[in-house]
Amino acid sequence: MAAATLSPAQAMSSETGSAARIPRHLAVIMDGNGRWAQRRRRPRVIGHRAGARAVNVCVDFCLAKGIEVLTLFAFSSENWGRPEDEVGALMKLFMGALEREVDELDRRGVRVRFIGERERFSDAIVARMDAAEAQTAGNAKLHLVIAASYGGRWDIARAARLLAQDVADGKLRPEEIDEQVLGGRITLSDLPAPDLFIRTGGEKRISNFLLWQLAYTELWFTDLLWPELDAATLQRAIDDYSGRERRFGLTGAQLAAPDETPE
Ligand code: FPP
Repeated sequence: MAAATLSPAQAMSSETGSAARIPRHLAVIMDGNGRWAQRRRRPRVIGHRAGARAVNVCVDFCLAKGIEVLTLFAFSSENWGRPEDEVGALMKLFMGALEREVDELDRRGVRVRFIGERERFSDAIVARMDAAEAQTAGNAKLHLVIAASYGGRWDIARAARLLAQDVADGKLRPEEIDEQVLGGRITLSDLPAPDLFIRTGGEKRISNFLLWQLAYTELWFTDLLWPELDAATLQRAIDDYSGRERRFGLTGAQLAAPDETPE
């Protein structure tokens, strides 16, 4: 099948067929911080602190493997509903991480970017986020996307609102709206779609993460809790991904002989 006839899902993704490569874009749900702490009879916040250390393990791995984009689900739209003290502790942790880590990330060529409802954070955190993005904007070694106050439904609703505004302003006609146009307003539309999704902590769900972007992403789950993450586990996920055939709704035969016209 000719490239011109690829579906929007294919066009969004970075590769077709056998995935015997390193993923270009890795998306991660970092689950299990609370349980990790509870098993040690420690407060949940201790688990989040250990989780922040595991973020470094993941970033180091991506840099070493040449993964281009790492998107981490740090705080969901729904996480605002957690007990006040846990939300407060997480905000402190984010602020501390932004203060501590950004210079080092910058030095290592990492571009930092945030997606989500930024307005819900305090002015101090928003200022830090803006500053981190500005400081690292010129870096290209690894694109580190932090999804914070993020929800996949929020993302799609926001895109719809932006398009509705364009229609109201006379810049767009409703009949021009298709997957391509809507997809162009979803966050991260300038980056390849995630090739591989990893969730730690044993749950097997997407939890309102990148709902649009994950359409053809390969999913990988582990019972390991996020603070226990190590390079060997990440390598296992990559090895598994490498052995999979990505068909994007086509048949295996079509992928094996992409230029043959069907009879
Ligand atoms: C889910 O575990 C984790 C979170 C809601 C927070 C993630 C935050 C970090 C890993 C720390 C800092 C991150 C950055 C980017 C600086 P959970 O609390 O739901 O665990 P549980 O399922 O065991 O309760």
